[in-house]
Amino acid sequence: MTSRQEAMLAGEEGEATRRAMELLVALGNVFEATGMVEVESAHISGVSYKNLGEAGTMWLEELAELGARVRVRATLNPAGMDLERWREMGVPEGFAEGQRRVVEAFTRMGVEATCTCTPYLVGNTPGLGAQVAWAESNAVCYANSVLGARTNRESGPSSLASAITGLSPNYGYRLTENRRPGKVVEVEAELGGRLDYSVLGYLVGKLVGSTVPYLRGLGRPDLESLKTFGAAAATSGGVALWHGEGVTPEAGWASQYLEGLETISVERRDLEETLEGLGGSPEEATYCIGCPHCSLQELEELARWVGGRELGGRLWVFTSRGVYQEAWERGVVQELEAAGARVYRDTCMVVAPLREMGWRGVCTNSMKGGHYSAAHGLPTKVEPALKMVEEASK
Ligand code: F3S
Repeated sequence: MTSRQEAMLAGEEGEATRRAMELLVALGNVFEATGMVEVESAHISGVSYKNLGEAGTMWLEELAELGARVRVRATLNPAGMDLERWREMGVPEGFAEGQRRVVEAFTRMGVEATCTCTPYLVGNTPGLGAQVAWAESNAVCYANSVLGARTNRESGPSSLASAITGLSPNYGYRLTENRRPGKVVEVEAELGGRLDYSVLGYLVGKLVGSTVPYLRGLGRPDLESLKTFGAAAATSGGVALWHGEGVTPEAGWASQYLEGLETISVERRDLEETLEGLGGSPEEATYCIGCPHCSLQELEELARWVGGRELGGRLWVFTSRGVYQEAWERGVVQELEAAGARVYRDTCMVVAPLREMGWRGVCTNSMKGGHYSAAHGLPTKVEPALKMVEEASK
């Protein structure tokens, strides 16, 4: 450690910094880190009151009270509710009060209350080789793979500690040798819509676990396909970095390490079986789009598909404040809501308290969203967004 880091650990920059440093040093010891690296941004998870509860909320409040302040740009993952329209969502008053306290504690520390899992769509966009400390598995996967930045799968506390200190232990995906691929995945199936990429990601995660996969045959995925692919791969496996031939920035470098690696083929029937694995038949589904949070492009497409249909409040759409604002300025939010869709910010179908809100089933176009809805005991099905719009308008 440098003398500055020693001083931080000794409490010379305040108790909050000392605690943050202590956590990072302990983490570094566990993973045999080669010292600390400076990070240029943090993305912090563990924001929903549903997950934090009272103990987690008080821990954050205590840190804020101790004078914790972030030293680098820090953005926030989704909360358990739209911070303004929570009543309309059906979120109970007690939950809303807890959630307000959580966001306030983060804000006091200087964290931007972006409340989105797609920080890369709202300006927190690190470049190739940048060291960052990000939590939220889809964001980690996107940062490492699509942007070529370097982060481990941070937790809520470790990403916050990095925001407070500007440091992170140097191990794992921060080191070039750990970014080499360990398995090759040949995609033989022709990939069509975005749901194909989500299903493929889910299957790849199952097949490779936390090994770095090198994928061939991905076609020409758009940003939205890349984000849903990574989200799914990080959910079913522990994928935090993947390389896509002709798609991701480090794939050319990674291709020199392919010799002798196990190769797995993926065919259309493998994708069909994977999708069927999450296929329930909820009697009373709420239709959810926006896992990860919708981009402007997705909102515009949805508005086109909705056209003059009447959705009767059955279609819920989740996005970030930043994207919502842009969509609002183009009249897209108004168009969707006039048709009876509900467009919410700050939250999603997984971190909101759905049971307390009276939900009985979920239909989504995201394998990640489907995975967690099913894991939370809600009857779930996964299907393409356009089909969802058609069903929701019946
Ligand atoms: Fe984002 Fe919630 Fe899905 S945090 S990736 S929308 S589970």
